[in-house]
This record gives sequence, structure tokens and C-alpha cells, in this order.
Amino acid sequence: MQLTDYEKSILAGDFGEEAKKILEVMVKIYEINDANGFIDVNEVMLASTQNMSIGGEMGMEFLTRLANSGIRFKVKTITDPVSIDLEGWNRLGIPEEYAQKQQKSVNALIKLGAVPTWTCTPYLVGSIPRLGDHLAWVETSCVIFANSYFGARTNREMDISALAAAITGRTPYYGLHLEESREGQLLVNLDAELNTTSDYDALGNYVGKVAGAKIPVFNNMKKNVSIQAIMQLGAALATTGAVTLFHIFDVTPEIVMDPYKYGKKSVNEEITISDKEMKVAYQGLNTTSRNDIDFVALGCPHYTFDKIREIASFLEGKKIREGIEVWICTSKTVRDLVLRSGEIQVIEEAGAKVVVDTCMVLAPVKQMGFHVMATDSAKAQFYVSGFGIGVRFGNTQKCLEATLTGKWEE
Ligand code: F3S
Repeated sequence: MQLTDYEKSILAGDFGEEAKKILEVMVKIYEINDANGFIDVNEVMLASTQNMSIGGEMGMEFLTRLANSGIRFKVKTITDPVSIDLEGWNRLGIPEEYAQKQQKSVNALIKLGAVPTWTCTPYLVGSIPRLGDHLAWVETSCVIFANSYFGARTNREMDISALAAAITGRTPYYGLHLEESREGQLLVNLDAELNTTSDYDALGNYVGKVAGAKIPVFNNMKKNVSIQAIMQLGAALATTGAVTLFHIFDVTPEIVMDPYKYGKKSVNEEITISDKEMKVAYQGLNTTSRNDIDFVALGCPHYTFDKIREIASFLEGKKIREGIEVWICTSKTVRDLVLRSGEIQVIEEAGAKVVVDTCMVLAPVKQMGFHVMATDSAKAQFYVSGFGIGVRFGNTQKCLEATLTGKWEE
């Protein structure tokens, strides 16, 4: 293993205990995966929530000490959403003490040199990798999107391994960084019509369970499939499966360049998705039989401009039913763009909240006392169900109708 002098000095403790621990983990990951050396990364993405796997509140203290050590990130490092709307936490009912704790890790990451994007759709706000770029990104929906849509190369990093990449500018060379690990393995023949973005959620939810850690290859998908649909598909695949890359014939770059290599050579299993499988997926995504909705949460992954415009067009001139909390989650950058076009005002006048920097999964929604959530996202459905909140899953239109009536129509 060839370490640089800088890395050796970090390992010797010259930048404190925290940086030393981070690099020790990097060395362990290198050894466990029998890496082929290190590869320089163009960009790193860090997790930034209060629940960082390096230890919740301890994780925040850890980040603060790291920032105070004087060490700084070596490459562009962007940030995943946090657990509060950084400016609007108060109007969401998040307690001040909780918000202050989260702010601490935000301050530490900024001090370390992070770009404060706080979003899981960084490619909508300026992080646009090129085909073959090496990255070290966390957050499952981002990792799968970068690998599949852009043909960039990143493993699914943990919080601490991403920190190591941010500090050193490189990452162990193994897994999806290698050409030979990127060939498709599970052929998915589509024999169902996909109309709404939530159809892609349902598809990803179903296929993720079958795929496990395999790389799916979608056959017969519309060539003009929207970016939002691909985002939803990827996020759902990476939730029920350990999927970090998929290919779509005639759509995603690697398989367009070489259909045999990425779409046929290593395929050893084949499934067909018809209306029957789609129905099973939709049924499985509804985890309550209750029809009284008190929370409608959209925007997982963080919504695009187009999707927010769709919400505004539905809500124009209407009023959300009293007692229902409605969140439309996106990045602050996209929110500001929609603010300029006047549609945020339309949404908020109807009584919904455009929530930025966070989402329905990372914010403390369980503590807020919601009982039944409606969503158009299979990923949000999965995690929020895990908090003990009943979830109704359906397309965006159906969720929006529930905002007006408070009822989920079967
Ligand atoms: Fe993004 Fe939160 Fe969903 S981080 S992918 S909106 S769970």
C-alpha cells in the first residue's frame, strides 16, 4: 500500500486523533477489499445528519474536534441533507435544542471546507460528474444515480470512508471503480406501461428485492424516460436491494456505448415485469389500511423544478385541509429558483410547506406525532414505515388529492 507523506503524517497523529482514526479506517477498507492501490477522486459527498453512523451526538463532537484540528478537505466535498430545514426548522415544529445540535455539525463541515449543498440531488445544483469520473459519494440514491445516469464511478461510501476521501483526495481502488465490476447481471424485461414517476418507484421497489446486490439491466424502457423517473427508480432499487448501479438499454451511457459488454456478457438471470408484478409492488408499498391522512410528504429524492411546478399547478387556488401537514422537499437552490418563478408562493398560500435541506426521513417526524403519511416515494415509504408511522403510497396526483380531503381513496 503506497501512502503519501501527508497520509503517513496523519496516521502518525500529526493532525490529531480524529483524522488518525479516519485514515486507519481507510487503510482497513483497503486491506479488506484487497484494493488495487488508490485512485484520485474528483468529488466527495458526505453524510451530514445528526444520526451520522460515526455516532449520533458523538459524531458531531467528533466532527467539531476534526474541524478544530486545522485539517481541511483536499477536494470538492458536497453535503447530504441534514435533519432540519436550516432556516425554517422553527415553522416545522422542530425543537430549538435539537436544531442547535444539528447546526453544530453543519458549522464543523463548513469549517472543514465542505460545499453546503445539503441535498440528495446534488446533480441539480452543480455537481455534474462526467462519464468515468471517480467519486466517493455517500447516500444510496446519489451513488446509484451517479453510477447509472452519468456513468461516473463510486462505491457506496460510509460516512467515515467518505471523510477519508475528502481529507486525502483519494479512495481505495476496488469495486465499482473497476471496469470489470460494472457489467449488468440481471436482465429486467419490461412488459408493463409506466406512466407516473411513482410507477418507477414501484418498479425499483420490486426489482431491488429480486436483484439483491446484482446490477440490473432494463430492457424496453422508454428512451425519453425523465430524469425524475430515473431518480425515483434508482432510489427505490437502492432501498430494497443493495443495488449501486443499473443500466437501461438505449438510455444510460455505458450500455449505449457497449450494449454487449454491459447488457449481455455477464447477465445470468432474467425476469419480466408485467402489470401483475407492478400491482404486487403497489400493494406491498401500502403499510396501513387506515385512510385518514395527517401528513403528506413529497420530494424523496429532493424534487426537481419540474416536479415542484407540477405541485403548484395542482394547488393553485386550492386550500389544504386543516390539520394536515404537507411537505414538499427539495434543495434550497432549487427552491430559490422556483421562488423566482412565483410557484413557491402558490404552494405556500395553499397551506403546504416547501421544506429545504432536509426530508421526511431525516427530520424527526416520529417525534412530531404523525400517524399516517401519504407519499409518492418508495424510499420514503420504506424508512418512514420503519419509524412506526403508517404509510400510503401512490402517485403524486393521489397524494395531492389527499391534501385536500384528508382521505386516501382506495
Ligand atoms: Fe433524499 Fe431524504 Fe429521500 S436524503 S433520497 S429525500 S430519504
